[in-house]
Amino acid sequence: MTITEDKVDLRALFTEGWIGRLRLKNRLVQAPMHTRYATDFGEVTERLIQYHVARARGGISFITLENTAVNWEEGRAAGNPVRIDDDRFITGLHNLVDAVHREGSLMATQLHHAGRQNMSSNIDGGGAPVAPSTVQSKVGGDPPREMSQDEIAAVVEEFREGARRSKAAGFDAVEIHGAHGYLLTQFLSPNVNLRTDEYGGSFENRARFPLAVVQAIREAVGPDFPIVYRISVEERTEGGMELEDGVAFCELIEPYVDAISVTAGIYESMSWIFTMQGTDPGSLLPLSKAVKAKVGVPVIGISRLGWALEDAARAIEAGELDFVAMARTQLADPDLPVKTQRGEHRRVRRCIACNECVGGFLFNGWSVRCVINPEAGSEHLLHEALGASRNPRRVLVIGGGPGGCEAARVAALRGHKVRLVERADALGGQLRASTAPAFKRREMQSLIDYYEAELAALGVDVALGTTATDVDRNAADVVLVATGTVGPPAPNDAVDAIEALAARTLPGDGPIVVLGSGETALNAAAFCVEQERPTTIVTGGEPLGADMNPLLAGQVEAYVRERGVQIADSPGAAGTPGSATLWAPARLDPDPAQAPGDGLSTFDVGTRARPGRLYEATQSGFWTAARL
Ligand SMILES: Cc1cc2nc3c(=O)[nH]c(=O)nc-3n(C[C@H](O)[C@H](O)[C@H](O)COP(=O)(O)O)c2cc1C
Ligand code: SF4
Repeated sequence: MTITEDKVDLRALFTEGWIGRLRLKNRLVQAPMHTRYATDFGEVTERLIQYHVARARGGISFITLENTAVNWEEGRAAGNPVRIDDDRFITGLHNLVDAVHREGSLMATQLHHAGRQNMSSNIDGGGAPVAPSTVQSKVGGDPPREMSQDEIAAVVEEFREGARRSKAAGFDAVEIHGAHGYLLTQFLSPNVNLRTDEYGGSFENRARFPLAVVQAIREAVGPDFPIVYRISVEERTEGGMELEDGVAFCELIEPYVDAISVTAGIYESMSWIFTMQGTDPGSLLPLSKAVKAKVGVPVIGISRLGWALEDAARAIEAGELDFVAMARTQLADPDLPVKTQRGEHRRVRRCIACNECVGGFLFNGWSVRCVINPEAGSEHLLHEALGASRNPRRVLVIGGGPGGCEAARVAALRGHKVRLVERADALGGQLRASTAPAFKRREMQSLIDYYEAELAALGVDVALGTTATDVDRNAADVVLVATGTVGPPAPNDAVDAIEALAARTLPGDGPIVVLGSGETALNAAAFCVEQERPTTIVTGGEPLGADMNPLLAGQVEAYVRERGVQIADSPGAAGTPGSATLWAPARLDPDPAQAPGDGLSTFDVGTRARPGRLYEATQSGFWTAARL
């Protein structure tokens, strides 16, 4: 049974729980996410506040703020995290936590030092980042220099001060960021920490600095103030820290902390930090269970748990877990807690684990955004955008892809009377093609299900298997044309991959050649091998998955290669005898078939108006309808 079915017993999630003296109203907590919504100088903004307010309103019991810099130059994560390295930041932080409190959630800071994951460009004079040793990370971070013992002692003081300021600002707890390959993880790691003094070598020595941080924070905040320690109990790299040491460290700090938040991975094993489509939801639950077996304080688990709520509820009942942390799930739908409690599972816009948020953030320097939730990061604008229309009208939406569905949703939400007409027999547009490969079917189908449920709940008149008639047009005050994109014509007797995937029907019965290099080509190849058809992707010399974020592209490429898909620049002289061809061009252009919007009563919407992919489709749908 999956969470998208209705009869699941999730009651354990909605029982109260405790972190030290803090009473949490339910077991759902928000994991820290660096948003880049702070100013370039690390100050809290209205955008950051409203982003958190929306999540607090959605019913989450406890929110951990993004990595919060205890040292701005040497310690901050890439970009512009929130900072807490000076008393002057207390005011902004207080405004943030106060706003979250008003909505009924509790909140912690996440005290953080990046160590070797920092860049020289962040450091005055371009100095080297600090680390236990000079071992450079293979992913991100400039070559580091080894910290002196005086510097280690100074960083302990910075954490102590960060904790004092967190309490002074009104936070309910502090979390110590001992995960994901940052400074505290680096000290624990046998292959990053090569020191020969009392901070390196044996487990006790490697644990000395993170333990000192924990003890200093306990001293700073007093015996009753809740402290959470977040740890990657396994680095999941060759020679990295393994579970035995991770659990031993949890036992070591147990006397000083009120909860342990269990995760895995460092930058070099990033796909374990942000597990994706193709990795089972709840894949890190065995790690939190292993910690829970050894410590008496509450344990917080993670890893796509928005998709594994039933497993998480069972783990709580079995005493294997105390709290369910969710990060991307909360980005995609801040109302998941309240919708889940009401049993409205199909109305949850459940994260599709595509990692576009992470990719844009890490590789493009963008502030956090979500391809399926156009409201994420714009919460400070929603009061106006989603307000009731002053001029409710009859709106016709032509096209039921994500752009059209989103436009219909927002128009209906704002009080317009909406009819949506879709030529196919189902909603989804090109999303239907992406439900074909088994490794992502559940995620992509859930987005279609969400729109179906949401449009029905909002009273949108959805007409499937039909095209818009003159009667439809004449009955509407506003027409939104959301007919999406089309590719260049297929060569010779090649079959359009999107159509084949949407129909889940492949040409012929022998080998398949997929012409293309982008996400559609990879999806098509995945579907073909799942159907046991020998498959070759012919890229034409283009890089594979260039229209995807590198994390997901790497994961899907590995998936198809493991299943025997061949990847070639050209078909070769002989081609593939007896094969059928799927045409999967990476570049799609706006559908030229309809008259363009006149900007008065007819508007182009979705990728027809804004070339691109899912993000552009939902953004365009949302904001066009927000202006009606
Ligand atoms: C955009 C983004 C930013 C993140 N920033 C942080 C962070 O500041 N601190 C942290 O400990 N984890 C951070 N994470 C990791 C999440 O807290 C979480 O461990 C990870 O996303 C897996 O949980 P999920 O499957 O619920 O998304 C971030 C994740 C995302 C998606
Ligand atoms: S961008 Fe993708 S992975 Fe990130 S929260 Fe949205 S749906 Fe989830």
